[in-house]
Amino acid sequence: MGQSVVLYLSNTGHTQGVAEKISSVTGAKLIPIKPQQAYTKTDLNWNDHDSRSYHEMHGGRVRPAIEPVDSAAIDQATTVYLGFPLWWATAPRPIDTLLDSVDLSGKTVRPFCTSGSSAIDEAVRQLRVDYPAIDWQAGKRLTSHVTDQEIQAWSKQN
Ligand SMILES: Cc1cc2nc3c(=O)[nH]c(=O)nc-3n(C[C@H](O)[C@H](O)[C@H](O)COP(=O)(O)O)c2cc1C
Repeated sequence: MGQSVVLYLSNTGHTQGVAEKISSVTGAKLIPIKPQQAYTKTDLNWNDHDSRSYHEMHGGRVRPAIEPVDSAAIDQATTVYLGFPLWWATAPRPIDTLLDSVDLSGKTVRPFCTSGSSAIDEAVRQLRVDYPAIDWQAGKRLTSHVTDQEIQAWSKQN
């Protein structure tokens, strides 16, 4: 089996928590996706139609700048776990910034999310449309209660 990485965006720690579990169960290297301008509490207010998150998600093709990622580790990986919080049931724009800047084609990509309640299906459907060259596997919504066995089963799923 080849090397694997966990690439994840997390603004308030939930996705980071499950990313760390995936890393400890699978041995995948943890690689955070960090927006150059971190999201503040005000930015994350989805009820405010003037907030940064609202504008980014409802303003067409927006690509917030991210810090450089460990591209050498990503290049070597054959499996990429790609994690994010759901925003309006989809992946936040910094995920698009990442996917526009690193080449994940030829790798097995397993998307995962955390969310208040929404399922991951719509996010994965959109990612498949926007990035058709990527070998998207079934996505999984995870919570802090996910067990090692559940992660193991998902990591082997075809
Ligand atoms: C701007 C914004 C939009 C959100 N939209 C949704 C949503 O559509 N459905 C949902 O279940 N949760 C939604 N949430 C909740 C987050 O997905 C959830 O809190 C997530 O676990 C946060 O992950 P993090 O702590 O790693 O940033 C939203 C949160 C934010 C900040």
